Amino acid sequence: MPEQGGGTVVGAQAWTQVVAAATRAPSIHNTQPWRFAGAPDRLQVYVDPERLLPVLDPTHRQQIISCGVAVEFAAVALRAQAREVAVDVSPDPVDPDHLATVRVLGDRAADDEDRALAAAIPERHTTRAPFLPQAVPAGLFDQLQADAGGYGVWMEDVSRDDAELVTVLLLNQAEEAEQRDPAYRAELEAWLRTDPGAVDGIPVSAVPGDDPAARPSNWLIRDFLAGQRTPQPPRPVADDDPPPPVERPAVLLLGTMGDDRAAWVQAGRALGRVLLRLTAAGLAASPLTQALDWPATRTRLQVELSLVGHAQMLVRTGWPSTPPTVTGRRPVAEVLSTGTD
Ligand SMILES: Cc1cc2nc3c(=O)[nH]c(=O)nc-3n(C[C@H](O)[C@H](O)[C@H](O)COP(=O)(O)O)c2cc1C
Repeated sequence: MPEQGGGTVVGAQAWTQVVAAATRAPSIHNTQPWRFAGAPDRLQVYVDPERLLPVLDPTHRQQIISCGVAVEFAAVALRAQAREVAVDVSPDPVDPDHLATVRVLGDRAADDEDRALAAAIPERHTTRAPFLPQAVPAGLFDQLQADAGGYGVWMEDVSRDDAELVTVLLLNQAEEAEQRDPAYRAELEAWLRTDPGAVDGIPVSAVPGDDPAARPSNWLIRDFLAGQRTPQPPRPVADDDPPPPVERPAVLLLGTMGDDRAAWVQAGRALGRVLLRLTAAGLAASPLTQALDWPATRTRLQVELSLVGHAQMLVRTGWPSTPPTVTGRRPVAEVLSTGTD
């Protein structure tokens, strides 16, 4: 039984700090589709059915992955506050919005890893700008794979050989299909923000203004501004101009054996851990999930890469060339209840 009335009780103020860290999690279109309920010895995490993306994510898969990252960030923040925690991922059949419980078991000393991962939470941001043309250290991949494996999530590097050809092709096909779909574009535009004080959605300052298709990279990032850009004439290129530097991102594919809510939460937890590990190593990252948005391209990826299980997440990572853009969050009071309010 968790100790109550002693040092392990988490009060409303401490939950506010933990949930502030949890809500720094990335979420699809920055929808922040989560709710939290703090009790003295546990934090319940729910998906918020009010903040869905019916066109892009009708099954709520990507939103539940987003909530899974928030679960992981909460656990990391608690461990850095010297709490022993356990996470139960067993969505409640009576309340399908309930996704996970972060239980506080007692006190323990925080170690260097706990502190380093917690310090990475406010430093992590989605970086869509081109990365420097420098390879990601090969040894880091093994560490990330082991991290993901701890949640029952497999991880593959798809930025090599045939896997890159297949993934890039499907990503491009999915992006093109999305741009042709007026419902997709309307939903995307509804989550774009021009107000610098916006507390949700994607600020236009966080997405590159140039056409992603014109970027010297194999990997096409999601185009948030398609249809809103004034066409530019191609830049004149002289015969002796050096070729533009081509970024060399590593692209990681995360997947699970199952494809239900519990698997999606676990995929999110693994994603959260991987992103914090990358940030702590000085790397930047951005999800690029177009090929996984639609059943047709998601299934083709599974077949053509002979995946055992289901693809859940694609993340490009590399060395940042520019400082990150900080994206807004809703106030904690909007998403946390503690029974005292
Ligand atoms: C499940 C999931 C899918 C995402 N897919 C994309 C994507 O395809 N392209 C992209 O640029 N960003 C993607 N993102 C990143 C979000 O847009 C980003 O997390 C959000 O805008 C908040 O910004 P931040 O990560 O900088 O805090 C995704 C994030 C999650 C969790």
